[in-house]
Amino acid sequence: MRILSIESSCDETACAVVADGRYVLSSVVASQVEEHKLYGGVVPEIASRRHAEAIVGVTKQALDDAGMTIKDIDAIAVTYAPGLIGALLVGVNFAKGLSAANNIPLIPTHHLRSHIAANYIAHPELKPPFLCLVVSGGHSHIVKVDDYTKMKIIGKTRDDAAGEAFDKAARTMGMSYPGGIHLDKAAEGGNENAFKLPHPVVANAPYDFSFSGLKTAIINLIHNASQKGDTLPVADLSASFRKAVVDCLVTNFMKAAKDTDSKTLVIAGGVSANSLLRSRLQAECDKNGYALYMPPKDLCGDNGAMVGAQGYYEYMSGNVAGAELNACATMSIEK
Ligand code: KG4
Ligand code: ZN
Repeated sequence: MRILSIESSCDETACAVVADGRYVLSSVVASQVEEHKLYGGVVPEIASRRHAEAIVGVTKQALDDAGMTIKDIDAIAVTYAPGLIGALLVGVNFAKGLSAANNIPLIPTHHLRSHIAANYIAHPELKPPFLCLVVSGGHSHIVKVDDYTKMKIIGKTRDDAAGEAFDKAARTMGMSYPGGIHLDKAAEGGNENAFKLPHPVVANAPYDFSFSGLKTAIINLIHNASQKGDTLPVADLSASFRKAVVDCLVTNFMKAAKDTDSKTLVIAGGVSANSLLRSRLQAECDKNGYALYMPPKDLCGDNGAMVGAQGYYEYMSGNVAGAELNACATMSIEK
């Protein structure tokens, strides 16, 4: 089954053609990041406009790269939640038009479920059930994936997402948006024990996260130093901050794995590209005899291929939308 898949939830306009949920025939991503960089973050109004301009060309390119026309497509999957509402609406309405004009079924697909599905593309043997750490710019969840479309959140952030915390810390250090990747690189040359930062835990909720105190701690450290005319070493700050975030993610995820007796662990979302998170989890999983699956770095961020992968399983479970489909800014991964 060949699915044309469309993603426009944030600042990437993306389209792919994916066969049977696992084989990527083409994948095109048009990033708006250079423009949002000027403002230090995504400007929703600009994002919607750029999606509207890019979506036709990106879709044509994806079909061309796959050597296909719309007549070769069996279904259209589209990200309809969660994300920036104006950005989502561009993809949803475009997909609805394409579906209606060509009489092709339309599959509404949840963005975070798609991040998880990026792993099905990279790892043909991977199947649910497994335990997944979903860490993106807007969400940090520990999810029990019982089946391709049956999930339960067992832990989540009480405030900021891990990606958001990385981006704010990086911005305070003068790095450009999105700063997570720059902070990760800067940390490579630093001393992770140079600065003592809090490792917040949430009382009576061992799988939940809280990153806002940690974020405030690093911002205060930098501001206090600059008020005294000091500049702190960016490499050491980055390494100490990265270690603190990764410690929280790894501790809670490994505890959840042990308590739920999960031996197959998966990570997903933009922050799953973080090099310390990847190496620390690999070491923990090797030590405990767990299998760890991670997306390749080019599938960690937003892309259309992951939407085609999840879209296939949504279709197989009977999830097809009609002309009334709307976009939703928030929606639980469990729905
Ligand atoms: O999943 P994603 O591409 O978009 C959302 O759905 O939110 O995640 C983007 C987030 C950003 O906060 C970005 O800074 C972060 O992922 N990120 C990283 C790294 N690469 C991307 N954070 C830490 N280390 C990285 N290497
Ligand atoms: Zn995403």
